[in-house]
Amino acid sequence: MAGRAVVVGVGHYLPERVVPNSEFETTLDTSDEWIRTRSGIERRHFAAEGETTSDLAFNAAEAALKDAGLTAADIDAIILATSTADLTFPSAATMVQARLGMTNGFAFDVQAVCAGFVYALSNANALILSGQAKRVLVIGAETFSRIMDWTDRSTCVLFGDGAGAVILEGQEGAGTAQDRGILSTDLNSDGRYKDLLYVDGGVSTQSTGYLRMQGNQVFRHAVDKLAATAETALEKAGLSCDDVDWIVPHQANIRIIQGTARKMGLPMKNVVVTVQDHGNTSAASIPLALSVGKARGQIKQGDLIVTEAIGGGLAWGAVVLRW
Ligand code: ACO
Repeated sequence: MAGRAVVVGVGHYLPERVVPNSEFETTLDTSDEWIRTRSGIERRHFAAEGETTSDLAFNAAEAALKDAGLTAADIDAIILATSTADLTFPSAATMVQARLGMTNGFAFDVQAVCAGFVYALSNANALILSGQAKRVLVIGAETFSRIMDWTDRSTCVLFGDGAGAVILEGQEGAGTAQDRGILSTDLNSDGRYKDLLYVDGGVSTQSTGYLRMQGNQVFRHAVDKLAATAETALEKAGLSCDDVDWIVPHQANIRIIQGTARKMGLPMKNVVVTVQDHGNTSAASIPLALSVGKARGQIKQGDLIVTEAIGGGLAWGAVVLRW
């Protein structure tokens, strides 16, 4: 027998305001056509004035708890992946903990930009397997609209706000790749690539800053590194690409998603795609796609899923799980 961290609930929340590509045509030298063909994005949600990352995270957490039939009292730990926390401290995770009325356990943020949710899943898995927690609420939530330079057409049309959450529960498994739950993880980073994707401000520089990205350079790293980390994670689980029911990728760009699937030898019918509706929501994109994929009837119990993401750092990784 072996311990496994099994997904027992999933949920998401998107802010009310939907912004179509055409809205950028009024302020920037861009077009719906350029944004669609270069990125696959058609619309994105932006948080309302005063609506913060912990607000989005709280709503996604409530949806995941409802889906699991659990209450906050059943949760031992919260891990919130975000690069856009409400405040420098406390963590957005403890703010969600308070909103949920949860006074037990512990909560903390993880910051690995777009790879944040994969890092958070991996940490939650380790907490469960080591017996430090039985149930972990893992959230990805972002308000990237707050770090956009609205005069920079090469970045501001690509990102959106949102949140998704899953609840992982420790359960016994047979120790085989047929078990439900997380089967393997693979995390990587290489700080030499900082200049490709960063925010030019922060606490220690006493500013907030804006997202800066050399998009075509990031693109070049993305397909190779994403396919490699997904294949490594599958190998660690004793599986191969042939076993995969769904790739649930970070939703940054449809061309990256297609290129990675092609490299893994999988058709697009095996990929959950939400980038057209959400844009790049950084750490929120994978749990959003898991939740939407389940609601659409794509993801079903027993399906083998590989999630993969890359973002600022560069930081990247993959998680293989059976739903
Ligand atoms: N509208 C019209 N033209 C534009 C726009 C726009 N919104 N943005 C850029 N362009 C222009 C550029 O100025 C350039 O013009 P030039 O040829 O005259 O210089 C031209 O379009 C091509 O620019 P590229 O950057 O080479 O275009 P590319 O095909 O690479 O697409 C994109 C750009 C969509 C950013 C793509 O490179 C990409 O998706 N990169 C990866 C981003 C990513 O995956 N990020 C993930 C991590 S995010 C995170 O961690 C927070």
